[in-house]
Amino acid sequence: MEERRVPKTRLIFGFLGVLYASITSTHAAAHTISANQTLRYNETIVSPQETFELGFFSPPNSMNHYIGIWYKKISNRTVVWVANRDRPLTNTSGELTLTLQGVLVLRDATMGKVVWLSTNSSSKIVRNPIGQLLDTGNFIIHEEDEINQENPIWQSFDLMTDTLLPEMKVGWNLVTRTERHYTSWKSVEDPASGEFSYSIDIRGYPQLILRDGAKIRFRAGPWNGLRFSGAFNLKPNIIYNFTFVLNQREIYYQYNLINSSVYTRLVLKPNGRLERLLWVDSINDWNIILAPESDICDRYEVCGPFGSCNIDNTPVCECLKGFEPKSPDQWRVADWSQGCRRTIPLDCEPGEGFNKYSNLKLPDTRGSWYNQTMSLVECEKICKSNCSCTAYTNSNISGTGSGCLLWYGDLVDIRTVPQNGDTLYIRVPHSEIGRPGNENNSENRSSDEDFELPLFGLSVILEATNNFSLNNKLGEGGFGPVYKVFYDYMTFYVLVSSSSETQDQSERMVL
Ligand SMILES: *[C@@H]1O[C@H](CO)[C@@H](O)[C@H](O)[C@H]1NC(C)=O
Ligand SMILES: *[C@@H]1O[C@H](CO)[C@@H](O)[C@H](O)[C@H]1NC(C)=O
Ligand SMILES: *[C@@H]1O[C@H](CO)[C@@H](O)[C@H](O)[C@H]1NC(C)=O
Ligand SMILES: *[C@@H]1O[C@H](CO)[C@@H](O)[C@H](O)[C@H]1NC(C)=O
Ligand SMILES: *[C@@H]1O[C@H](CO)[C@@H](O)[C@H](O)[C@H]1NC(C)=O
Ligand SMILES: *[C@@H]1O[C@H](CO)[C@@H](O)[C@H](O)[C@H]1NC(C)=O
Ligand SMILES: *[C@@H]1O[C@H](CO)[C@@H](O)[C@H](O)[C@H]1NC(C)=O
Ligand SMILES: *[C@@H]1O[C@H](CO)[C@@H](O)[C@H](O)[C@H]1NC(C)=O
Ligand SMILES: *[C@@H]1O[C@H](CO)[C@@H](O)[C@H](O)[C@H]1NC(C)=O
Ligand SMILES: *[C@@H]1O[C@H](CO)[C@@H](O)[C@H](O)[C@H]1NC(C)=O
Repeated sequence: MEERRVPKTRLIFGFLGVLYASITSTHAAAHTISANQTLRYNETIVSPQETFELGFFSPPNSMNHYIGIWYKKISNRTVVWVANRDRPLTNTSGELTLTLQGVLVLRDATMGKVVWLSTNSSSKIVRNPIGQLLDTGNFIIHEEDEINQENPIWQSFDLMTDTLLPEMKVGWNLVTRTERHYTSWKSVEDPASGEFSYSIDIRGYPQLILRDGAKIRFRAGPWNGLRFSGAFNLKPNIIYNFTFVLNQREIYYQYNLINSSVYTRLVLKPNGRLERLLWVDSINDWNIILAPESDICDRYEVCGPFGSCNIDNTPVCECLKGFEPKSPDQWRVADWSQGCRRTIPLDCEPGEGFNKYSNLKLPDTRGSWYNQTMSLVECEKICKSNCSCTAYTNSNISGTGSGCLLWYGDLVDIRTVPQNGDTLYIRVPHSEIGRPGNENNSENRSSDEDFELPLFGLSVILEATNNFSLNNKLGEGGFGPVYKVFYDYMTFYVLVSSSSETQDQSERMVL
């Protein structure tokens, strides 16, 4: 196989330190911009706690100039938002003005030409607008005497670039029919809209999809009540909490910081990689702590219809139980594109039933149907009553499980995982009923849901840190000492949680 196997452990953990204030301000910085006021080159707006700064910037090796928002306290400028990403200024004569109507206007001052506008329509009656940069990184325009953060006149969070910050929503407002999704930069030197986008697709049951142009590259999949079905390591953790909201008005994913002095962001890189980064003060850099798309099995539809990808197998693709390669010759030479077909075809006879398959990533839901209040029994009944229904499951696995999610037609983009996978009930002929769907029956509901970061036994940690050798120790963070280790072909920053500093050798540690 041509692919290098990526170690199963995909996390690098950095330590959280107190961020230092390194910027020496050489220019005018205000907290707000009022109506009829203009922001010129070298002038910036800063959030109240000085977390974020808004102003003109130029990417490295670029002659172009943009209005952007970046972390004020990080010396290596990290831009999280760009206003005029597709309409750059070519010189420093730009001017950003807040009009009396509450619209931000970016002009080239020499010619007076408008380069960018925050909004075209001015349907709202605006009395006394003011622009303010919040410590969340959201630049909002609101009436001076009433901050309505829920419904401002305008907010930069509605216009995502390539970064999902804490409190930002990615998804849909079904009332206004507006969508927010993120799109990569063209390159590290060019913030123009790149070819990769990450969005919530609402055909069928909503799911998160990463696209390369129009082509699907990776599917994090549908929300199962605890996480996205294909984001196995999205778990409760000490850095941020997260929610997925699905109702008549909104469909979105959002995460929030648990400790607001920590910096973390989810960014879609110009190369299409999605990375969760955490600022690590001791190394003065961002560390990747989660990269959802990271092995060949994350590649969309790698095993074809009714095929399942298992990274622990060689080759990685196999047909689901009860299915066989559609084209055995191609399958043998690792061309899995044709996928699998039923060993015994279905003929829509009344005796057909369902077998249970465990620990899967749920198939593409674009051809699915759902009802959030139905029980599993009702769900089976509905699925059974229509011969083109191929599978069903609970839409919400939280608690005892609830809701109905069912599929019509081919099941594509499935993977099998050792744990944290979902259960799927797949339609089978009468003669097959009762055979276990797959032998992978480690169904112990994860007992270690407390941490997103994998827990390693003490012996592994001792070996990796060379018995906590001081040579490997980087320093102490607010959460405990930190060690740099090399293990399983990757460099990790080991954070020894404070509780494990006690004498209790049975204590487990967090990587
Ligand atoms: C938040 O993190 C900072 C920096 O690591 C630490 O000093 C502070 O004690 C933490 N606050 C809480 C409430 O945990
Ligand atoms: C807005 O600014 C312009 C130019 O500085 C000025 O002529 C005008 O009177 C201002 N309008 C208001 C309403 O302040
Ligand atoms: C911005 O500030 C820098 C450094 O102080 C200065 O060299 C430059 O001329 C200024 N640019 C403008 C357009 O004011
Ligand atoms: C700045 O660039 C614009 C075109 O983008 C041009 O029309 C204008 O003359 C330039 N101004 C200066 C001072 O070079
Ligand atoms: C404003 O209108 C132009 C032309 O119709 C459109 O291309 C642009 O996206 C609109 N901008 C906003 C912020 O709605
Ligand atoms: C996430 O944490 C924040 C801060 O502790 C809290 O206000 C919020 O309610 C939490 N959200 C969820 C969904 O747990
Ligand atoms: C600063 O950013 C540049 C470009 O992103 C990167 O090449 C460099 O390694 C960074 N430096 C540090 C100290 O993080
Ligand atoms: C979902 O199922 C429940 C119970 O069967 C039913 O009352 C409800 O109308 C269904 N909702 C939709 C949107 O189909
Ligand atoms: C079965 O479901 C398909 C897809 O939703 C639909 O087109 C078809 O009409 C249904 N058939 C019956 C008999 O309900
Ligand atoms: C999923 O089920 C849990 C437990 O019954 C419930 O608290 C939660 O609101 C449900 N989530 C959704 C999205 O329906």
